[in-house]
This record gives sequence, C-alpha cells and structure tokens, in this order.
Amino acid sequence: NYMMEEFTGAGRGIAKSALEAKRGAALAAHKAVELKRGKGWLEWMSSPYDQGEVVKEINAMAADIREKNDYFVVLGIGGSALGPSAVQKALNHIHYNDLPGDKRPGPIFYVEDNIDPERMQALLDVIDIKKTVFNVISKSGNTSETMSQFLIVKKLLEDALGADAKDHIICTTSSHSGSLLPIAKKEGYRLLFVPDGVGGRFSELCPVGLLPAAVCGIDIEELLAGAAYMDQLCRVEDMDENPALMSAVMMKIAIEMGRNISVMMPYADSLSLMSDWYAQLWAESLGKLVDNEGREVRTGQTPVKSLGVTDQHSQVQLYTEGPFDKVLTFLKVGEYRTTYTISEGCEDVPSVSFLGGHTMNELIQAERDATEYALLKLGKMSMTITLPEVNAFTVGQLLYYFQMETAYMGEFLNIDAFNQPGVEEGKNATYALLGRPGYEEKKAELDARPPK
Ligand code: PA5
Repeated sequence: NYMMEEFTGAGRGIAKSALEAKRGAALAAHKAVELKRGKGWLEWMSSPYDQGEVVKEINAMAADIREKNDYFVVLGIGGSALGPSAVQKALNHIHYNDLPGDKRPGPIFYVEDNIDPERMQALLDVIDIKKTVFNVISKSGNTSETMSQFLIVKKLLEDALGADAKDHIICTTSSHSGSLLPIAKKEGYRLLFVPDGVGGRFSELCPVGLLPAAVCGIDIEELLAGAAYMDQLCRVEDMDENPALMSAVMMKIAIEMGRNISVMMPYADSLSLMSDWYAQLWAESLGKLVDNEGREVRTGQTPVKSLGVTDQHSQVQLYTEGPFDKVLTFLKVGEYRTTYTISEGCEDVPSVSFLGGHTMNELIQAERDATEYALLKLGKMSMTITLPEVNAFTVGQLLYYFQMETAYMGEFLNIDAFNQPGVEEGKNATYALLGRPGYEEKKAELDARPPK
C-alpha cells in the first residue's frame, strides 16, 4: 500500500518518487551486506548452505530424544528462546502439547525463557524429569537466567538419576568460550555449537533452533531450503526484485516520515509468536545510541506485537484513528491448513444467519482486508506479506527475509545491527548484584547510584 496517498489524497503514504530517491542508497546497502556475506557477524548468511553434517547429527539426536523421552524443555532466553518458540508454534498443531502421544510428532515441548520462580515450579509440577531432555541454549554460556535454570535441573536430575543425569542435558553454546562449554565437557553432556558470527537473534536457523524444531518433528532441511530460496532472491541488487531490500527501503522512508512504531500483525494463530521473534530482532538490532562513527544517533523503530483478528478488538482503534506514528505489517496466509465451514442456523435472525455457509477462512480473510481498508481510508501505512501457506519452506523464507531486512536497515541507519550493548549492560549489572567474581568494580558503580 505504499501508493496509498493517491487514495487518501493526504500525502500520507510512500510516494513512488520517494522510493526512486532511495535507489542509490538501496544499491549501496545491498553491496555492503554482500561484501560481508558469511563473514564477521554476517556468518548467519551461510546457515542455509553449510550445515549438511550438523543437520544429520541433529536429526539423529532428535530421533534418539523422541524415542526415549516424553518431554523436551528449552532453557534459554532472547535469541536462544524466541526462535524455537515461534517455529514450533508456526509448524506444529496449535495445541501440540495437548495432543495424545500417538498423534504428537515429538515429546511435549516447553521453552522456559523466564526466571519467575512460580513458572519454574509450574514446569516441575507438570513434567517427569526422568523422562525429560533439557536443551540448555546459551551462546555466551554465561547468561544468569539460563545458568540458574541449568543449576536447578542439574541437581534435580542428579538426585533422581545419578550418573544417567548426563543423558538428559544437551548444551548448545559457543565452541570455544563461556562457562557452559567446560561444564558440559566435564559432565559429559551432548553438545551442539553456535557459530561465532551468528548472534542470538540471528540464530534460529543454526543448532539453536534446529534441534528443538527437529525434536518436534519439523523438517529442518525444508526450513533451510526456504531460507536458501529467500537468500537467492536477496542476492539481486535491484530493490524491485529483492523483497527484503524493498521492505527495508519502505521502512526507512516510513521512519523518516515519523512512523517510529512497527506493528507486526499476523492473521494466523500459528504465526503469533513470529511477532515476538521479530520484535526482538528489530528492537535489539536497530535500537542504538551511536552510529558506526561513534556519533550519538539514537536510532530504532519500536516493534509492537499484534494478532489478527484478536487485536482488531483491542488495538485497531488506535491504529486507525490514533497518531500517524505507525506502520503495520500484515502477515497474510494464502491457504490455511484447514477449511472450516460456519454452520447454517438461526434463519429467523438474518444479522447472524448470513454467516452460515461461509468458511472461517473467508471470514478471517475478509476481516484482514477490512482492517487494511480501514487503515488505508484514514491514511495509515500498512504492508502485507503473503505466505501461500504456512509450512517449513515458507517459514524458513520468512525468518531469513526479516534477518536480511534487518541487515539492510543497519546499513541505512549506519549502525551496528549485530551488537547489543544495552542488553550486555543489564547482564553485567546482574552479575555484579549477585556477586559474580570479577564484577567488583561494576558492583561499586551500582552501589554508588543516587538513592531513589
Ligand atoms: O540477540 C542476542 O544476542 C541476545 O538476545 C541473546 O540471545 C540473549 O541475551 C541470550 O544470550 P545467550 O544465548 O548468550 O545466553
């Protein structure tokens, strides 16, 4: 809908001339990303191609886990949790955990990405740890949240299983740094590695995401094939042919027009957690204090998670009539995996009976169209990404597409999209507050805070 100003006449959309004006910058951004392809922090661009051996190892490990266990629990946070949750939700039964065992393609699956003590207790109340594999995912191998969960389950497993406890923990971490690696080696846990140049939020298509997906019966080769397909599209330098580049161009213009909020609104329950994954990718990558030359710039566009149609009834009033500060991205599904027909009935009440005979598929599509129209009418920006259907191939494409869009945006904003100094500051302060050796100076800094 970037031509919407012709409809509204209010000059509130993205004009073709504005797109044309960005052609040079788009070419430069594309070139910069291609120059770094597979190197440094863009090592994730190799993920679709260089994991043949690791995929075999993961599939074998997953088969073993499925055979011997009833539960699979990811212990991780941020980039080590949001991808596994999003992909599992997208590609498996919406009520996967509630299915009877013979209908579920893998063990009951939990991603524990918080340290709320009630949640920890709740997990332990519902699983049988003797029948559970815990996948401890931490690239740094130091994150307090994940390591504290690890310490708890390690002790419980050892108390319950003695020497066999080691078969119930798999660690996904750096191959050469952090505290988790030496612990895993000493204890004899199975290990998978996160490549050096793959940051947390770019790691869903490496062992971080691939093991949990494979355990739950997801075709990880197809996921990677989808990513490779999108990668081929993104090798094209012409922004008209490169979807992620065009999207980044439009988002950059939107930001320049004051659209500082990016609302992600899938019209599919299966894609609801994609919004969480996207929110981290977009927020942590683009929210930066300084540019590549160290000048204070304070960049970023605030991501908001929304779900169609659910949030039509809670947020869309703001999106239509509120300030001109948002751009909405609809994730549209071409064909849902099920068709459900609304029953005929209540013929004496035409205001209800008109629904009968239509499908829920028609209804949800109509509501998405209607919301898009309501936004358009009031001059609000939106764009739509259509997945012909939700499957491993299209989800692989979608993940890679957003990663590429983020890399291009980093170039447009002239920032490092791959670091997270703000997050690291919080991690270091936590270490200091809880007395980690080596963080005495940070503790003194915290103690010297002005009183509240
Ligand atoms: O994107 C990132 O780098 C972060 O969100 C990390 O994924 C998160 O902080 C967890 O880090 P780690 O995997 O090192 O435990």
